[in-house]
Amino acid sequence: MFRLGASSWEAQLCYASIRFLMKIAISGKGGVGKTLLASLLSRKFAAAGYSVLAIDADPDANLAANLGFPYPENITPISEMDDLIEERTGARPGKSGSFFKLNPRVDDIPDRFAAEHDGIRLMVMGRIKRGGTGCYCAEGVLLQALLSHLLIQRDEVVILDMEAGIEHLARGTSKAVDHMIIVVEPGRRSIETAQRIQELAKDIGLENIALVANKLRSQSEKDFLVKSLPNLEFLGFIPYDQALIEADLANIPIQDASRPIAEEIDKIFQALAPTSKMTNTVK
Ligand SMILES: Nc1ncnc2c1ncn2[C@@H]1O[C@H](COP(=O)(O)OP(=O)(O)OP(=O)(O)O)[C@@H](O)[C@H]1O
Ligand SMILES: [Mg+2]
Repeated sequence: MFRLGASSWEAQLCYASIRFLMKIAISGKGGVGKTLLASLLSRKFAAAGYSVLAIDADPDANLAANLGFPYPENITPISEMDDLIEERTGARPGKSGSFFKLNPRVDDIPDRFAAEHDGIRLMVMGRIKRGGTGCYCAEGVLLQALLSHLLIQRDEVVILDMEAGIEHLARGTSKAVDHMIIVVEPGRRSIETAQRIQELAKDIGLENIALVANKLRSQSEKDFLVKSLPNLEFLGFIPYDQALIEADLANIPIQDASRPIAEEIDKIFQALAPTSKMTNTVK
């Protein structure tokens, strides 16, 4: 893209215009394939040359394993970094009655604590021991500040693998999400969850919502989903693949998706990439 001899201003403008600030959140009912989609999309964006930061925001974290990180069990979730939490908030997790800072410094955390494998950086947020994700405690405040930072400040593709439901996405933070993808599988519970997420997402100001169908075994299942969710766009239709179940049972990461799945991931990528936000500032 750069011409030899281009002025530094031109080079900077070009650089600024190719910096993508896309934030994708993936939600849906338990077990529908959120983590599978998060890992395949992360790989797709990374293979296309994007800088990718994947965030595992599910307390039952397994994105690292899906991404093929060696020894995923050795990755310490942020919520378990007691020294860091104490350093940043002034309070040690689990100590009752302590005061803590409400706006802890977090901007250096991604570069210092993200794990990296195959060109993908990963942050595992972890579980808050007391009171759920939104708890008013030191680790809850640090995680929320970190998530806001990751979604608002980072100039890279951020892919957020969420726990089922979106109740834990705060109003301010969610506005920074460019695309909320709801994964659905053929089944009424998955559809009901998608409808509930759609309503909640609207309530908190999330507008760009789309669906990805997963685990499809037939045309009639596809038709059923499309008919059941007429108000939302489907970005892709991922077929059921027995090899994924077998890989899961054998506890081995999927190296390469099958061709039909890869083609759908490609379609989803194409649908997302051109509409991404770009910076318009010259730095
Ligand atoms: N297209 C598919 N074909 C066959 N199996 C699939 C497919 N997609 C996902 N699976 C399997 O379904 C199970 C759940 O997938 P995954 O962990 O990605 O779902 P999830 O929505 O992240 O679940 P959770 O809510 O527990 O986080 C896994 O065993 C995975 O291998
Ligand atoms: Mg998952």
